[in-house]
Amino acid sequence: MSGDGRMIEGLLAGKSVIIAGSGSGVGRSAALLFARHGARLACADIMSDWVADTVRLVAQEGGEAIAVTCDVAKEADVQAAIDTAAKAYGRLDIIYNNVGITGGPAPLKDATQDQFDKLVAVNLGGVVNGCKLAIRQFEAQGGGGTIVNTASVAGLIGWGGVIYGSTKGAVVALTRTLAMEVAKSGIRVNSVCPAGMITNFITQEAFAEPSDAQLAAYGQMHPLGRPIDPMDCAKAALFLASDLASNITGVNLPVDGGLSAG
Ligand SMILES: NC(=O)c1ccc[n+]([C@@H]2O[C@H](COP(=O)([O-])OP(=O)(O)OC[C@H]3O[C@@H](n4cnc5c(N)ncnc54)[C@H](O)[C@@H]3O)[C@@H](O)[C@H]2O)c1
Repeated sequence: MSGDGRMIEGLLAGKSVIIAGSGSGVGRSAALLFARHGARLACADIMSDWVADTVRLVAQEGGEAIAVTCDVAKEADVQAAIDTAAKAYGRLDIIYNNVGITGGPAPLKDATQDQFDKLVAVNLGGVVNGCKLAIRQFEAQGGGGTIVNTASVAGLIGWGGVIYGSTKGAVVALTRTLAMEVAKSGIRVNSVCPAGMITNFITQEAFAEPSDAQLAAYGQMHPLGRPIDPMDCAKAALFLASDLASNITGVNLPVDGGLSAG
């Protein structure tokens, strides 16, 4: 596959993949894109009906996916998702730890202990759970395996809420340090660092259409002049998950229209 690099179809052919947070936004786009490239998916999300819809959309295109209800902050839920994928497809090749929740841009001085605990438990704890348990599964299978995390441009530059950015900065650091720790097992660890996408995460209103004002504001935020599309992130995750990136590990890849370069 990595041979002459010309092959652009079937990048994940036959791969068993968990996508956490695939009930909407980036995760749903990744489910559709990964399935188009031949992946066999376990779509995990805390929202059962949303993730069931994702699986239905994948199936409509002829893709293969099963839905798993999972709170990534709970280790037992993540283990159950891994067991489900391994049972359905015989093994686990890739985990995409994409879940993140926003704490809003509220000033740090107004933050509550509950907000802090929840953001850390989901945004960092969820990635730790996914990485740790997937590595155990990969090593039990004899090594190899690929991890992609979703961090954020907020983990690279000062942008957005302080606690949120801190959790994402932790995911950036985790991605680098874990990549070093597991390289000898042939496991790659990378992250995608998005900037502003108008998803449920931003609107806080399920699947709302972005307004013209939101589109304009988000466009101006990025040097390339348009909001980030969830599919932009899905494409970056596909690259990092695939053999196109077989010699790439420890990278935190901005998908930010140039924002972090300024
Ligand atoms: N939207 C943005 O502007 C933006 C910017 C930078 C980074 N990100 C990151 O991108 C990733 C995807 O965000 P999105 O914009 O697609 O948001 P989204 O809200 O559309 O998708 C997040 C999904 O995660 C699920 N989820 C939430 N908590 C969960 C939990 N505890 N366990 C399992 N699933 C859970 C939600 O139900 C939802 O389906 C997140 O990590 C987010 O932090 C988003």
